[in-house]
Amino acid sequence: MKQYVALITGASGGIGSAIATTLAEEGYKVALHYGSSKEKAEKLKDTLIGKGFDAWTVQGDLTKKSDVTSVVEKTLDHFSHIDVLVNNAGALNDAPIDEMSDEAFDQVMAINVKGPWQLIKAVVPHMKAKAYGRIVNISSGVGSFGAANKSNYGASKGAINTLTKSLCKELGPFGITVNAVEPGMINTPMTDYIDDKDKAAYISRIPRGKQARPEDVAHAVKCFASDAASMISGQIIGVNGGLR
Ligand SMILES: NC(=O)c1ccc[n+]([C@@H]2O[C@H](COP(=O)([O-])OP(=O)(O)OC[C@H]3O[C@@H](n4cnc5c(N)ncnc54)[C@H](OP(=O)(O)O)[C@@H]3O)[C@@H](O)[C@H]2O)c1
Repeated sequence: MKQYVALITGASGGIGSAIATTLAEEGYKVALHYGSSKEKAEKLKDTLIGKGFDAWTVQGDLTKKSDVTSVVEKTLDHFSHIDVLVNNAGALNDAPIDEMSDEAFDQVMAINVKGPWQLIKAVVPHMKAKAYGRIVNISSGVGSFGAANKSNYGASKGAINTLTKSLCKELGPFGITVNAVEPGMINTPMTDYIDDKDKAAYISRIPRGKQARPEDVAHAVKCFASDAASMISGQIIGVNGGLR
């Protein structure tokens, strides 16, 4: 099997580390991107290398264009190609709209939309040159269905969904697929702020009767990333136990 290289942003986080682990187990060489959580990323790298996988870390603040460029250049220097890009890094900054600052809106859009857009822009020339690429964007159910106090986050994930659909049309002729995954609420540092009562109320509405795990999201990413998924593009799949 050809050894594909996957760049996973936010691999230091809850969902990103599961995606990186699943892709490494699937035979991909993995570039583990992190922003500020160097220790978590290095620990994941050591664990994966300990299991005999090819893993490497790369740092960058994805709200800075220069960092995005250097993440892609360093990954290409290290692995010589990028076959799969998983735009997973993301952030929340919730507030009712009349209390949300302009800065909170701009910050969430910068991390959740402009960062992925810049990354795609930077990897596409390399994918086009190889006539092969898999881009998987981690969106959110909030992007399709909305949620109170998340007007910035919802707008950012809605934008990721239409970015996915637009780029699928543009990049298909070059052998590049673009898909998105919409997780439901997953237990990670991002959702630590939600209290147990609200989590229980959410879980009680899930037809499968339980919350999805980071590994469930990773499974959907693995499907989109696979060589065999060449005819699956522009799709947005929920990982939420049937909630939507
Ligand atoms: N958890 C959920 O319920 C849920 C539901 C739907 C969608 N999602 C989406 O899933 C993705 C992963 O979320 P998660 O739950 O795994 O959250 P998490 O554990 O908080 O991880 C977030 C990741 O994003 C990275 N990141 C944030 N801002 C960054 C920046 N400016 N530059 C570079 N990296 C940055 C963090 O890196 P550092 O820590 O290294 O800075 C971290 O690795 C996000 O796109 C999120 O919107 C999550």
